[in-house]
Amino acid sequence: MKYVIGVDLGTSSVKVLLIDQKGSVIREVSKSYPLIQEKSGYSEQDPEEWVEKTTEALAELASNFQGDISDIEGISFSGQMHGLVILDQERQLLRNAILWNDTRTTEQCRQIDEIVGKEKLLEITKNAALEGFTLPKILWVKQYEPDIFNKIHVFMLPKDYLRFRMTGQIHMDYSDAAGTLLLDIAKKEWSKDICEWLGIDPSICPPLVESSDFVGTITKEFAEKTGLSEKTKVFAGGADNACGAIGAGILSPGKTLCSIGTSGVVLSYEETKDRDFKGKVHYFNHGKENAYYTMGVTLAAGYSLSWFKEIVADDESFNDFLSGIEEVPAGSNGLLFTPYIVGERTPYPDANIRGSFIGIDSKHTRAHFVRAVIEGITFSLNESMEIFREAGKEINMIVSIGGGAKNETWLQIQADIFNAKIVKLSSEQGPGMGAAMLAAYGCGWFDSLDACAEEFLDVVKVYEPIPENVAVYRELFAIYREVYKNTKRLSEKLGPFRA
Ligand code: XUL
Repeated sequence: MKYVIGVDLGTSSVKVLLIDQKGSVIREVSKSYPLIQEKSGYSEQDPEEWVEKTTEALAELASNFQGDISDIEGISFSGQMHGLVILDQERQLLRNAILWNDTRTTEQCRQIDEIVGKEKLLEITKNAALEGFTLPKILWVKQYEPDIFNKIHVFMLPKDYLRFRMTGQIHMDYSDAAGTLLLDIAKKEWSKDICEWLGIDPSICPPLVESSDFVGTITKEFAEKTGLSEKTKVFAGGADNACGAIGAGILSPGKTLCSIGTSGVVLSYEETKDRDFKGKVHYFNHGKENAYYTMGVTLAAGYSLSWFKEIVADDESFNDFLSGIEEVPAGSNGLLFTPYIVGERTPYPDANIRGSFIGIDSKHTRAHFVRAVIEGITFSLNESMEIFREAGKEINMIVSIGGGAKNETWLQIQADIFNAKIVKLSSEQGPGMGAAMLAAYGCGWFDSLDACAEEFLDVVKVYEPIPENVAVYRELFAIYREVYKNTKRLSEKLGPFRA
């Protein structure tokens, strides 16, 4: 039997999965690392922590492997998107990575809008300038850390840095490059125009490859540290959302994904590069060659729930924390939560908005609050679902992965709020599985990613919407939608007190 490894480099942890030729998860090892948040809105990580923890995880996986280590044929990656990693001429890190959930760059987004123009930006990159994307972060460094900016030899994204440290090779794949705001996503090349207009030397953009491209083997040093074979083939990998889509079989038109990790996304396959959503949702290159996807993002999805757990029940397991929510009626007896605890993306690109609980009543218990948080996250994702539906997409069946797919009640809540069938797969490991599938396809085990999905992915359960709950949630969703506009000004006024 042969094996591949999928590395899922996330925001709170790295997960490595050992997968066999049937798609079974043989072993999973996870290691966590912290966020560095020096100021409200700042979110950074030390890229060397990613390397250290991934090395530890792979060494643990390799030491438990029963068999010939060279049977682990290939490895590929899924990475948290957009984070800026910069290296100097000597290929040394110039600073911490500035992550996707860092919102310090509102000023740079407005500069991009002014200098490039909103229309032109949409024409080239198919996306609007948002704080999370990479380009505004490069401009922030240019403005506030010019000495560092002048030393930039190359920029890359989180999983590209990890891969570079494993292979010594520098590349970026299209699915991740699409989230930089520097890629012409239709032509699949760096936009020299955007670089020139914004005073960025295009030579800092790394060579582009497909997600399933072979980019080298692991170095002798990395093989020694982990116990993996020096012959292990390395494939480029993709953005976590593209890999989540691959790992959930979102590989043909009409398929929709709901993925709830730290952030939450609703994602839909696109065959062509020319649909027009006017920048309301992101439009990115897929990890499957010459395919695309559109996506709406809730910045703090799983993060809202883990934040709430941390402040009220830090020492409990997630299972204990969630127990009892199935007894609270749909709608949490009038308690509403908006998950804007770090600002929001879709449909409100607003770094200043903050979350709220509305309708607190003396009868509400902790379980009401927990359920309200889960419902609020799901309402937020439903806003993206509505954008797709308004654009004429039919959404009747949604594959759900990530933390949101681990809890039965939450899966039912998704069916009831999205008013669609929710499909649960045997593995809810979307991004890590997608990364492993890229390696399996890259190794030549299958002719296509679709054929690999056919072999690797199984449906275990389908959740049908319950009509009474659908009706309750429809009414509550209309109220939920009013909260943003009614709290926007209050959030702005409270801003100075957060610092
Ligand atoms: C997508 C986004 C997040 C990150 C999380 O645009 O910012 O989903 O990819 O890792």
